[in-house]
This record gives sequence, structure tokens and C-alpha cells, in this order.
Amino acid sequence: TYVIAQPCIDVKDKSCVDECPVDCIYEGERSLYIHPDECIDCGACEPVCPVEAIFYEDDVPEEWAEYYTYNVDFFDEL
Ligand code: SF4
Ligand code: F3S
Repeated sequence: TYVIAQPCIDVKDKSCVDECPVDCIYEGERSLYIHPDECIDCGACEPVCPVEAIFYEDDVPEEWAEYYTYNVDFFDEL
């Protein structure tokens, strides 16, 4: 799955939402989140984010590693 990290917080540009072919990017209070079971790993969202907040799960920078968990937890709580 792809993951949305810290740069999205309070930016929420949403260019990624328009690119996603399976509509698996959902809006939270301060950030958007990618549904880990619905994402097909197409990568279309990653280059369009103006603040480079989107990463493939294995490529999330170390300082934002916890965002993978935040992303998964968002959907567990729904
Ligand atoms: Fe959607 Fe593709 Fe991005 Fe996954 S990688 S969130 S399927 S655009
Ligand atoms: Fe956030 Fe970037 Fe999408 S700022 S809403 S991840 S385009």
C-alpha cells in the first residue's frame, strides 16, 4: 500500500484523490489516508502531491515511519 505522511497535515491538497483509480484515499480531520486493503499500488497519486507526502510503504522516510500505523489505525477506528 501507499502511505500519506506528515507533509499532508493541514495542507490536504487533494490532488491525489483525483488521480486514484479505485477511490481509496479518504479524508480525516487534518490529513488524508490511503485504505491499505483497497490501494492497488498503482503509484498514480505519488507524483501529483505538491508537498511530496505520499510514499510506497517500504519507502516511507524513517522519521515518518509511524505514519504507516496512523494510516492503518484510521481505518480500524471507522
Ligand atoms: Fe490510489 Fe494508486 Fe495511490 Fe493506491 S497507489 S492510493 S490505488 S492512486
Ligand atoms: Fe495530502 Fe498531498 Fe493528497 S497534501 S491530500 S497527500 S495531494
